[in-house]
This record gives sequence, structure tokens and C-alpha cells, in this order.
Amino acid sequence: MSSRIGFETLDDEMTLESLPTEGEIPEWLDGTLVRNGPAKFEVGGRNMNHWFDGFAMLHAFRLRDGEVGYRNRFLRSDAYTEATEEGNLTRREFATDPCRSIFKRLFQTFFGNDGTDNACVNVTRAADKHIAMTETPMDVVFDLETLETEGHFDYEDDLGLDTASAHPHFDFDREELLNLGLNFGGTSHYRIYTQPADSGSRASVVRHPVDRPGYMHSFAVTEKYVVMTECPWVLNPLTLLAFDKPFAEHFEWKPEQGSRFLVFDRNDGELVTEASGPAMFTFHHVNAWEDRGSLYVDLSAYPSAAAVESLMLDRLRTHSHGELGARMRRFEIPLNETSSAREHALPEHSLELPRIDYRPRNGRPYRYVWGVGQSDPGEFIDHLVKMDVDSGEVSTWSEDDAYPGEPVFVPRPDRDPDSGEDDGVILSVVLKGEDERSHLSIMDAADLEEIGRARLPHHIPFGFHGHFYG
Ligand code: CO
Repeated sequence: MSSRIGFETLDDEMTLESLPTEGEIPEWLDGTLVRNGPAKFEVGGRNMNHWFDGFAMLHAFRLRDGEVGYRNRFLRSDAYTEATEEGNLTRREFATDPCRSIFKRLFQTFFGNDGTDNACVNVTRAADKHIAMTETPMDVVFDLETLETEGHFDYEDDLGLDTASAHPHFDFDREELLNLGLNFGGTSHYRIYTQPADSGSRASVVRHPVDRPGYMHSFAVTEKYVVMTECPWVLNPLTLLAFDKPFAEHFEWKPEQGSRFLVFDRNDGELVTEASGPAMFTFHHVNAWEDRGSLYVDLSAYPSAAAVESLMLDRLRTHSHGELGARMRRFEIPLNETSSAREHALPEHSLELPRIDYRPRNGRPYRYVWGVGQSDPGEFIDHLVKMDVDSGEVSTWSEDDAYPGEPVFVPRPDRDPDSGEDDGVILSVVLKGEDERSHLSIMDAADLEEIGRARLPHHIPFGFHGHFYG
């Protein structure tokens, strides 16, 4: 019960040329792992409400010649800078609003130009820039070497999104990024856009009307299709204007309407089919692929949107979050008829923050997923998981008082890409609760045996996502 430090602020910014290591750091690991996550949970004596609300900090682990260097910096978003200068929260975060006493504007949205740019969720690369992302369309550019903030990404189009996912996909054949967005209005729209790898200009592909949009954190893509999973955690967009409450509180859980899978053609944006599914809630799609007239989608799903409330900071800090309940689920969607999705059994093991051998297996059949798991409802995420979705075999890594973060798979450069799906390493930032220190752990991706670790002098608050820039 010592994971609490993972939800406490880290104020120090530092550059460490070489971290003390144990075991072996593979010589072939050459690149920078950037992790993103919240690291400051209070402003002017006031606490943020939700894990997703803390101010973004970037952590860069530079791996080269068997050595590990480290640097961390707060993202100097407008949200962070204003809050630091004024001693008050000035922007609406996911589940925390500015105080009414300083709420001087007529209304201020979560997602508009005066919404938050506290990009604490993920990082990516577009148009030769490194970008931190949250779920508003204000991406923040940072320098990979120094982690200095360079301002907002300057899109050359006028796509007019109100929200955008922090989980874009990348198609290596077409050399383009795809992402999911939303417009709110009397009629709202689910959006998909593409962006050439070397361009700052996006093109709209899908614009699908919806009356009561569902919260969508991610989506899936195959060679021909885009798949959205609309869970029954939905909002009436008009209330966004009418009521002064945090974004997350506008959503309502409507299990009676079930879930809906929407499949779109990537080329013309047309709706190919929709299929009904059970009431559930998901943040993360794992993968999707086409096979003999069906589209299969794997995701990490919760029984309900109560998962969002479980991640309120006061519950996480007091271990009253309970069983978080994320499990792998697989659905088969017939492409030539409108019907119900058929569920296929996968192991019941707890699995969140899923990662796969993204290139070349995203959008194609795959075998392995790595993630984090929770073994005790009184504990936070406390082990790493590797699941073989073909055989159902599950391997885990755990250690006393250790809380691992999202496992990022890095393939061995000389592997056989056909047979070597798990030939490489897993990088995971692990918090040791009693020590109040974190370390970067390097595991053999095949069996989750630890190869080496690099120790930090401080804790890293639990983060969300990261990317290995090789
Ligand atoms: Co996510």
C-alpha cells in the first residue's frame, strides 16, 4: 500500500548525464525514451481532482553505448505558465475547473482556444517536430534533446476540431498519421483526419453525425478501415455551454444503449457498417485486422465508466479506487451486414496501457500484447503482463513494492520481423513505493525477465504514455 507517492508532485527538474545501472543495458539500444505524465497536482494551495489533470512533465531517457542519461522538464504549456505566474488554475482541465471567483469570462470551454493545452497524455512526431498531446487540439512542440517547450504546433489547415485523441496512428506504407477528433454542436460529429508525415496540413476523411457523442480516447485502424468504439458514456453537447462544471462531469453512463462499433472506409470516409456490442467502457484499443469478411478489434475494456471516477486523485491516494477492472476483449464485426458484434474469449487477466509490436503489426493479425495489470483491488497497477492472444498464455513480472508503468516494446534491430514479434526489449518506468524512487527497467520482451535497470534519485509520478525515438 505504498503507491501513494506515485500521485505526489515532483518539482525538481534535472539533467543527469549517466544514471547508476544494475545488470546490463543492451548496447544495441540506441535512442531516447520519452515518457509523458502529470507531475504537479496542486496550484495555489488547491488540489487537482483527477489523475488526468496534473501538469505535464516530460522525462527523457537517453540510451546509448550501454549507458542511460536522464532529463526531465515541465511542459511550459500556457496552462502551466499561467497557473505558475498567477498562482491559480486558469484553464479548464479534464475534471478540475478554475475557481468561480477567478472565473471571469462569460464561459470558457475545455476544448476551445482558451481550453487547456496541458498536454500530459502522450508524445508523437509529425512534420519533423516532437509533440506532446492531450485531448484538446492544442499540441505542444518540444525539443527532443533539451525538452524545452517550443510553443503550439502550427497547423496549416482549418479543421475546426473541438477535441482530438492523444492516440494517433501512423501508417508506414502511406507515410501518414491518422487521428480521431470530435466537433460539438446541435449535431456533433465524429471526425477522422490524415496528415502526411512531412506536413502540418491535415485532411478530413470522416465526418459522421451523432446526437449524443461518446467519449473516445483511442481508435483502431486496419489497411482498409477505421474502427471507432462508441461506449455508452455520452454527453449532450448543449450542456457544455449551459453548465459550469468540469468536462468529465458532463458525461452520463447509459448502459441500456450498449456500445456501438462504427467502421469507416479509409479511402472515401463512408460508413461501411455498424455493429452493436455490450455496454462497456474503454480507453485503449489494442489492435484491429481484417479476416474473411470480418473485422476483428481487440481492446482493453472496463465493465463501466466508473473506471473514470476510480482515477480521481483522492481515491488513488487512499487506495479506495477498488478493482480497476480493465480486461482484454475481442469483438468480430461482420463487414457485409449490420448486426451484433460477436465476442471471442481472451484470457481474463487484468491488462491496461497495452502496447504491441506496432510496426509492422498494427492493423494486421498479431500475437503478443504487453501491458500493466492490477492483482489486488487495494493496490494500484502492480505488475507487467505479456499476453499471447493466440494461445492464451499469460506471463507476468512483479516485484515487492514495485509499480510499473506502460511497457514500450523496442524490437532488436536485426530481428526477423516475421518470426520475431517478441524479439526485443520492454522499457518500463517502475516506482518503488517505500524507497520513493523510480527506475527505468529493461526486460526481455519474450519472457519478461529483467535485463537491467537505471536508477533515478527521485520518484516519477505515475504517467500515461511514451515513445521510443530510435
Ligand atoms: Co491513453
